[in-house]
Amino acid sequence: MSNARILGTGGFLPARVVTNAELAQRVDTSDEWIVSRTGIRERRIAAPDESTCDLAEGAARQALDAAGCLATEIDLVIVATTTPDRVFPGTACLLQDRLGIHGPAAFDVQAVCSGFVYGLTIAEKFIRTGSAKRALVVGAETMSRIIDWQDRSTCVLFGDGAGAVVLGASDEPGILSSHLHADGAYKDLLTAKNTMTDSGCLLRAAGPVTMRGNEVFRMAVTTLDGLVGETLAASGLQQADIKWLVPHQANTRIIAATAKRLGLSMDQVIVTVDRHGNTSAASVPLAFDAGVRDGRIQRGDVVLMEAFGGGFTWGAVLLRY
Ligand code: UT7
Repeated sequence: MSNARILGTGGFLPARVVTNAELAQRVDTSDEWIVSRTGIRERRIAAPDESTCDLAEGAARQALDAAGCLATEIDLVIVATTTPDRVFPGTACLLQDRLGIHGPAAFDVQAVCSGFVYGLTIAEKFIRTGSAKRALVVGAETMSRIIDWQDRSTCVLFGDGAGAVVLGASDEPGILSSHLHADGAYKDLLTAKNTMTDSGCLLRAAGPVTMRGNEVFRMAVTTLDGLVGETLAASGLQQADIKWLVPHQANTRIIAATAKRLGLSMDQVIVTVDRHGNTSAASVPLAFDAGVRDGRIQRGDVVLMEAFGGGFTWGAVLLRY
């Protein structure tokens, strides 16, 4: 059984920055409300001709480069996304083709904001059992395409982007433990429904996002509290062993509650929500990449990734970088 270690990371954001002030010109909101309730100051929005696969490709190429790995050495491609470019084929197949990878398994994972944590866990199982040696795991989203831009309760929250890692078989420790959960009883609290005809046929896929924010907030805080406890207990590590928390970036108040539960100072938390907003499946790998690139996350550091999102789905990965 091999360990699965992160060999390289990448991130890619669309060029267009949309500030809170710009949104306040479109809907009844304010920079003060958005910052105090969420911590978000700005987000990136994809250009009209920029696809989820374009963002995924940018992040993937950077991760391959950082890992010193050729695309042709990848034997598993997983893309976590809620905003695929096509109903089918999966975005992982589109990405695989762009990168010139032909033959190895490629599939999408749909677990909304927890998608990357799900994808990383699946890739780790492939590597640990010898079914793959080098996996490309990407979280990529164009959430702007499934937002109602007139709905102030959701349109201020989300952003577009992609993050990626190359995960490889290694003798050195990598992923130490991971835990995935879901409970579909909460399916209607955060959702993007298809539009159906009266006879029940699909008319238009995906959108817009609707959320009962306050209820999601409360569930996120309590669920993440239990999740981080479970992950630590299973790993045999202590709270003090965790050097960095890389949380899903939905709201700084949720992030601060999780950090407090772990006894971590906010200096030990990678926060990008202020600049990226909530990029759903892209948020954890984008934040991880930001921490690696600016030198905060160093080789050997113990890192806890966690996420919570629509489904509800939630999950955590504890790893030594
Ligand atoms: O990524 C997946 C997981 N998602 C999350 O974890 C998101 C969890 N939820 C949240 O982060 C928060 O619930 C929100 C940031 C979405 C909302 O914050 P809140 O403190 O829960 O506000 P609220 O929904 O209770 O709304 C409070 C008030 C309402 O007005 P009234 O009814 O008190 O008069 C809203 O209509 O704020 C109003 N409001 C706004 N006001 C200005 C809602 N959105 C806005 C807005 N600007 N953009």
